[in-house]
Amino acid sequence: MSQPIKVDEYQQDYQATLSISQPDGDTIEYPIPILLDTHGDPYLQVSSLYNETGYTLYDEGLRSTAVTESKITRIHPSLQHADEDTPHGVLQYRGYSVKQLATTCSFLETAYLLLYGDMPNEEEFNTFSEAIKSNRMLDKNTEDMIDLFDKKTDPMIVLSSALTSLAGRYESKYDMHKAEDRHEIAVRLIAKIPTIVANIFKHEQGQRALTPDESLGHTANFLHMLLSTQSKTAELNPDHIKVLDMILTLHADHQLAVSTFVTRCVSSAKSPAISSVIAANLALAGPLHGGANIKVIELLSDLQADDIPLILEKAKDRDNSFKLPGFGHRVYKGIDPRAEVLRELTHKILKSDPEEEPLFELALKLEEMALEDPYFTERNLFPNVDFYSGLALKAIGIPKELFTTIFAISRVAGWLAHIEEGWENDAPLFRPKQYYTGLKERPLNWP
Ligand code: CMC
Repeated sequence: MSQPIKVDEYQQDYQATLSISQPDGDTIEYPIPILLDTHGDPYLQVSSLYNETGYTLYDEGLRSTAVTESKITRIHPSLQHADEDTPHGVLQYRGYSVKQLATTCSFLETAYLLLYGDMPNEEEFNTFSEAIKSNRMLDKNTEDMIDLFDKKTDPMIVLSSALTSLAGRYESKYDMHKAEDRHEIAVRLIAKIPTIVANIFKHEQGQRALTPDESLGHTANFLHMLLSTQSKTAELNPDHIKVLDMILTLHADHQLAVSTFVTRCVSSAKSPAISSVIAANLALAGPLHGGANIKVIELLSDLQADDIPLILEKAKDRDNSFKLPGFGHRVYKGIDPRAEVLRELTHKILKSDPEEEPLFELALKLEEMALEDPYFTERNLFPNVDFYSGLALKAIGIPKELFTTIFAISRVAGWLAHIEEGWENDAPLFRPKQYYTGLKERPLNWP
């Protein structure tokens, strides 16, 4: 990949010109203004290209296309420090390093930051967290909806249905044009998704769901609802609560990952917030997005150290669709900064766990051997967030079937921040074009 271009923000007359030689011999000269983002990265502003020239940009998978302006999250694909061999990706929420946020703030503080742009003061945080606390309960229809599903149903499907039940109950009561109504929906969703996930788990286990515990914080309450039963209150490990809270912070936003892009698309049609979140949740369920940490655990659970070379060969084989789960990223061309935090965290909680530690050692070995292989280094394939997150969640006692729902408990904060930004900016309707290669018109001789 070529180095990102940096431009001095004071440089004058900075623009590109697209010169198109047409079949009739004429040449179209289309001047393209260049916008500089906060960090001086340049963007070609081409929104009027089609109207003015009749030409359409073709960018399969939107690899070179920014579809909106945003002030929420910054990613830098890779920075190389002089004293290190491996390049690092950069991830910041509202200008703060995600590593720092994960180690010094709670998930709820981070959610507030994402939604409203700044860290809350004490009073703002208390009001926010009390509002979340008082909205944790589910209505009976949503509880019943969860219980209607076969116990073996994919939890992400059940979560989407439970969210649909919430949409039925709340959406018509709110006016998305009003900031206070959008705030109320955001609070309800952040508060209720953990309860839905805990209820899904209890249903799958054939156990009765628990009532949220007012005395516990956001993450501790979720673990309690998951791990306690009607007859026995689980003794929660403070390290596990902290690690889970950090995992939630690390996953809370990631610019326009496919699920967040979906929320932007759906809300650009002025659909209400819960509808946008339902659509995003279904996108998150895909194995190339939220499901990769399940694949990592499945791989490691069946793996012996001696098999690692075979697995790497399989991942490299172009005739095999298998990709090494937890490796590679569309936006990072260095180590995913979230993976670095999680590697350390996972090590911390696993080092005294004789059952889980071998899996971690295997993951380290797999990472080491992959990073010694030119196939991975030449393609900038480094561990991503999913490589270690599954190991940490498993060690906390969360079954792998729930991993993607944990991602949803966290990413809902980012989805809602993007929904909020889209509404605040009155974002235009998303309607990309396509490059049509189907048949020309033909007569229909039928029957
Ligand atoms: N194992 C083996 N080869 C890979 C892998 C991998 N994990 N990832 C990419 N490649 C190869 C790919 O085959 C291609 O090779 P070639 O140049 O010979 O055709 C090259 O690397 C470039 O890959 P790409 O498919 O163009 O990259 P992409 O940006 O479209 O895909 C990705 C990104 C995440 C879908 C992909 O790396 C992948 O499938 N990884 C495994 C699944 C995974 O871990 N997903 C979680 C992503 S992070 C979660 C999040 O942030 O939400």
